[in-house]
Amino acid sequence: MKAMTLQSFGGPASFALRDVPTPVPHAGQVLVRVHATSINPLDYQIRRGDYSDLVPLPAITGHDVSGVVEAVGPGVTAFSPGDAVWYTPQIFDGPGSYAEYHVAAESIVGKKPASLSHLEAASLTLVGGTAWEALVVRAALRVGESILVHGGAGGVGHVAIQLAKAMGARVFTTVRAANFEFARRMGADVAIDYENEDYVDAILRETGGRGVDVVFDTIGGDTLSRSPDALAQLGRVVSIVDIAQPQNLVQAWGKNASYHFVFTRQNRGKLDELSALVDRGQLRPHVGAVYSLADIALAHARLETPNNGVQGKIAIAVVPLAD
Ligand SMILES: NC(=O)c1ccc[n+]([C@@H]2O[C@H](COP(=O)([O-])OP(=O)(O)OC[C@H]3O[C@@H](n4cnc5c(N)ncnc54)[C@H](OP(=O)(O)O)[C@@H]3O)[C@@H](O)[C@H]2O)c1
Repeated sequence: MKAMTLQSFGGPASFALRDVPTPVPHAGQVLVRVHATSINPLDYQIRRGDYSDLVPLPAITGHDVSGVVEAVGPGVTAFSPGDAVWYTPQIFDGPGSYAEYHVAAESIVGKKPASLSHLEAASLTLVGGTAWEALVVRAALRVGESILVHGGAGGVGHVAIQLAKAMGARVFTTVRAANFEFARRMGADVAIDYENEDYVDAILRETGGRGVDVVFDTIGGDTLSRSPDALAQLGRVVSIVDIAQPQNLVQAWGKNASYHFVFTRQNRGKLDELSALVDRGQLRPHVGAVYSLADIALAHARLETPNNGVQGKIAIAVVPLAD
């Protein structure tokens, strides 16, 4: 099979398209013909060597699969050849999805929502699973509460806005002014221009000085350290980004705040819950750009560029005419 392999840690030119053996499904595993995958910041963080201790080279990376089951290993009961499926490969545990075929444990694989194309489905598994873990499992967002979603035009952010709306929350989000219309279309009640307005001032103004119940930090640095300033009493902060600097939590103490740090975990249950929201029309990933498997280096370079004009996700058509 063809696979985009990472030959060394470094820039986008570190990738090479190679012929490699097609994997074989063992007990409890499915072999999937990958129709589409997508790009996540984790992919370029791995590529440039941020996790070099965890990724032996050469490596196949990639963290989203939408495709069709080609074969099943002994003992597989949930899937048969021909089933359309979606999942996030186990992170830091074996080859990823930048390839024509992928093998995964059936326990982390879900049935693809029929109403999503492969490109759309591959744009939801990692970011959707992360937003689910953050808002549903950890923040336990409740109907009528308020949430600030940072980075609302990005992969995780645009899904988190939709999820928070589906959970009955009032949603604030930080985006560039050029993405106001997109953020509102995703369901945001209030969009804050992070380049030209202080988001803490905006939150306090919009909430009459109270602050929001939940801050979802998808950016890191300033957005994490200033979260308590935007938070209501007994509020929750959920962060999915590395903590680059030691944090002073004095303000958080004053707010009786709870902090949650999320590193997304894989399981079928989350995918099935996301699928139910998709089927009800409450959640749909936005594919902002599509590249081919051969052009993954270009896709990486684009995702890494600030203000790259992409709304939502960059998807990769592995089958050339993937829908
Ligand atoms: N822990 C986990 O399990 C997990 C899972 C998924 C993702 N992540 C992490 O979460 C982060 C976001 O992932 P993603 O997939 O959403 O990335 P993404 O698709 O690149 O989106 C990031 C968004 O943030 C915007 N942005 C940049 N600076 C901002 C600021 N100061 N305020 C508000 N928005 C800002 C960017 O837009 P413009 O630059 O165009 O304005 C872009 O729309 C990454 O660091 C990723 O590694 C962690």
